[in-house]
Amino acid sequence: MASKHLSRRGFIAASAKTGLALAAAQVVTSDLLAHATTPYAPSTSFDQTPLSYAYNALEPAIDALTMEIHYTKHAATYAKNVKEAAQAEGVDTGKPLEDVLAKISKYSAKMRNNAGGHYNHELFWKSMKAGSSGKPTGKLAAAIDNNFNSFDAFKAQFSDAGKNRFGSGWAWLIATPDKKLKVISTPNQDNPLMDIAEVKGFPVLGLDVWEHAYYLHYQNRRPEYIENWWKLVNWDFVGQRFESI
Ligand SMILES: [Fe+2]
Repeated sequence: MASKHLSRRGFIAASAKTGLALAAAQVVTSDLLAHATTPYAPSTSFDQTPLSYAYNALEPAIDALTMEIHYTKHAATYAKNVKEAAQAEGVDTGKPLEDVLAKISKYSAKMRNNAGGHYNHELFWKSMKAGSSGKPTGKLAAAIDNNFNSFDAFKAQFSDAGKNRFGSGWAWLIATPDKKLKVISTPNQDNPLMDIAEVKGFPVLGLDVWEHAYYLHYQNRRPEYIENWWKLVNWDFVGQRFESI
């Protein structure tokens, strides 16, 4: 870590001397963001990990058929396609997926859509469980109160981000590099780790609002899906994730 800081300072000094201060600032920003992802172990692999619960475990909020199709068809396809893109574009799939996301602008649209899709779903499955406690505790609960005034205010803001995302996308609770919490949303399979994201940060919690996540049971009633999804949030996992950064 010490040599990393030294080399960063060295780079900034050299850049400033050559009139590249802006480039240096961008490197520092992306370095901070990359740092925010690395302490969370394990980092995300290119392989789809098994679900830790049965397809019907999240009923009635999410029905078994939706879960099965979502996991075995949609998410499995992102995992397959991101590996194809990696092979075509010379990416080492033994490395963390986060490394690709941080430089996604350098890759193809296929990589962007499927690296995002794979990462987002891997996080989504882990962020849910049957028998949610209903609320965060500890440091995450305190941070939510500090940043949003109350859990209910946060919940309303996050729900609105999901409801108002036009078309397909995600609602996120993110931590910025200085550990402030924000609610944002991203289109399609983009996420806040991507260098092209309008607002960047570490995704603490994400909600899939693509129609494939809810249409079989809820049809066009996305707000009802979101309201019921709150009953599934695995706050132990999400709290540990927040504390890992
Ligand atoms: Fe999805």
